[in-house]
Amino acid sequence: MIVLGIETSCDETAAAVVSDCDAEGRVRLPGERILGQVVLSQIEEHRAFGGVVPEVAARAHLEHTDRIVGEAMARAGIGYADLDAVAATGGPGLIGGVIVGVMTGKAIALAHDLPFVAVNHLEGHALSARLSNDVPFPYLLLLVSGGHCQLLVVEDVGRYRRLGTTIDDALGEAFDKTAKMLGLGYPGGPAVEQAAAMGDPTRFSLPRPMKGREGCHFSFSGLKTAVRQAIESFPPGPLTQQDAADICAAFHDAVTDVLDDRVSRALQIFRDLYPEGGPLVVAGGVAANKAIRARLESVAARAGTTLIAPPIELCTDNGAMIAWAGIERRRAGQCDGLDFAPRPRWPLDPDAPKASFAGVKA
Ligand code: KG4
Ligand code: ZN
Repeated sequence: MIVLGIETSCDETAAAVVSDCDAEGRVRLPGERILGQVVLSQIEEHRAFGGVVPEVAARAHLEHTDRIVGEAMARAGIGYADLDAVAATGGPGLIGGVIVGVMTGKAIALAHDLPFVAVNHLEGHALSARLSNDVPFPYLLLLVSGGHCQLLVVEDVGRYRRLGTTIDDALGEAFDKTAKMLGLGYPGGPAVEQAAAMGDPTRFSLPRPMKGREGCHFSFSGLKTAVRQAIESFPPGPLTQQDAADICAAFHDAVTDVLDDRVSRALQIFRDLYPEGGPLVVAGGVAANKAIRARLESVAARAGTTLIAPPIELCTDNGAMIAWAGIERRRAGQCDGLDFAPRPRWPLDPDAPKASFAGVKA
């Protein structure tokens, strides 16, 4: 099967052509599956605003999607007639961008008489470890990005059990807001990680929200407030590089401690559900963070399992994960009609119990 995947739900315009078997029907190894891919980041468009502006993102997707799809097809060296299906992110995400990707995908499907698959963006992240590492079901997924922070048991294609979610901010958002308060620029994650490496984590004591609590939900808004208070403890004006680095190091320490606690609990719940176990998989842009990866490796080892982290370019938003999810859904005999309506919200596990703590509901 050869599938084109289109991703436009946030601030990356991305497209890729992915195939599971070659022309002779031989199963492709993970490294041979992506025939061509292009990711166009909108970081420059949003930098002046310190975050993603939905209207700016939608216009940029509109301007670039056709060209990016054409480039991905050219890199793969195939024509539309060679495709078996077209997949596009159908949500959740910034609706303007999702509409652009879905309409582009539908138009190609209609013009070339191909099946159209509307992929849940979270499913794209959830299945990307099967594209890169052939991970068998079931596994525990920690999805940590700018918009999401979830712990999910990935049981099968289309079968996800949400164990934990954030009751307020996503982890990437906490990184981005911390960077913004410290004037470290956008996107914040890499800047905070870099600064933290030069800081003293013991100088500021920051809270570990939800640590020790039952279950495995997350909360990061209190940590963000604590960072703001630490900044406000200085006289007005810019902080020195060392002060900012010390705050970042303390933030990093708090985040890795919280992840250790929450993911350890999730692994216990996962093991109760599936005594034969399975690996821990991490996905989403925050998975690029080396300290977080290292801590998750030790969490997995303590629980007697392994951490699987797809390569960074598959952890952040990309078209290949959407094409791959399209392949998996087509193999399961699924596709969508051209009447599919883009969805700003689209939970992977609609039956998951709501997270509610201290009167806060999510
Ligand atoms: O998955 P992604 O590319 O887009 C979303 O779907 O949100 O994730 C972007 C997020 C941003 O919040 C960014 O600051 C964060 O991932 N991020 C990092 C690092 N690199 C990117 N966070 C922590 N450490 C990093 N090295
Ligand atoms: Zn994403």
